[in-house]
Amino acid sequence: MQDFIHQLHKAELHMHLEGSLEPELMMQLAERNSVQLPYQTVEEVRRAYQFSNLQDFLDIYYQGASVLQTEEDFSDLTWAYLRKCKAQGVVHTEPFFDPQAHTQRGIPIEVVIRGIDHALQRGKAELGVSSYLILSFLRHLSEEEAFATFEAALPFGDKFIAVGLDSSELGHPPEKFQQVFAKARAEGFKAVAHAGEEGPPSYVWGALDLLKVDRIDHGVRAFEDERLMQRLIQEQIPLTVCPLSNTRLKVFAEMRHHTLLEMLDRGVMVTVNSDDPAYFGGYLVENFMALHDALDLTCEQAKQLAANSIRASFLPDSDKQKYI
Ligand code: HPA
Ligand code: ZN
Repeated sequence: MQDFIHQLHKAELHMHLEGSLEPELMMQLAERNSVQLPYQTVEEVRRAYQFSNLQDFLDIYYQGASVLQTEEDFSDLTWAYLRKCKAQGVVHTEPFFDPQAHTQRGIPIEVVIRGIDHALQRGKAELGVSSYLILSFLRHLSEEEAFATFEAALPFGDKFIAVGLDSSELGHPPEKFQQVFAKARAEGFKAVAHAGEEGPPSYVWGALDLLKVDRIDHGVRAFEDERLMQRLIQEQIPLTVCPLSNTRLKVFAEMRHHTLLEMLDRGVMVTVNSDDPAYFGGYLVENFMALHDALDLTCEQAKQLAANSIRASFLPDSDKQKYI
């Protein structure tokens, strides 16, 4: 099964670059930049990765991101992830980055974008892995701060394709960001948003109707709302689902309770993704294998999920046809 999954042409549509920071690179960059971390060893870092919910994880994720300071750091981080893509048969990726996690610490946005873009260009040229970057707003901050971030990023508007929305979901519904999403769409960007991870189905409705997103990130709680399920199926709205993330953050108590395959069999356009692979115990292939081990994912289902990931990507139709 592992070999079968490896050779499928796959796109990854939900992966936070800061969440691909492996403990080894984190320690290396902490040393290089003289950043104090509350860990002495890689093992200690790994032992700290026990989460009971999304906020637990986010606190550790932002702390880890503090070692990223220079253009070279952002490039090294992105390059390490792209090599994983190459090794796992990921032919195309649409990663997120969280500019505000860095600008809030005084790192200029151009340092972040230039570093990431450098590695993405190299990934295309040297590894044959194509990519479109997604600029994600932190939803626990204000819409004014999102606007300021978007304005600061606009001079680099050719380096990202879409805007997204992540961080603490509960208490920060989509409508909080209606204006800035309207502005981004008017400027020609695509839009995606995390919704229905910890938040209720109403947040998925809000992301669709108010933010007018092209895809929903996570969206697993849509399963609780039959009318919403019908809409997702009818309109073939993609959900970028992240199985290992969902069990690590206790969205599902165990993988055997995950509803991804039920959604797939009902005709929802679901895809498999790794979210924050360095924190949740695996990259894309490990996420597919977790479904195989706990839920008996079949080759036919794996093939369908891989095809969905290409279909749900922002690639032009001519490129999609090469992979499906
Ligand atoms: N949810 C919300 N915010 C995030 C996540 C996530 O899974 N990963 C990184 N930021
Ligand atoms: Zn995510």
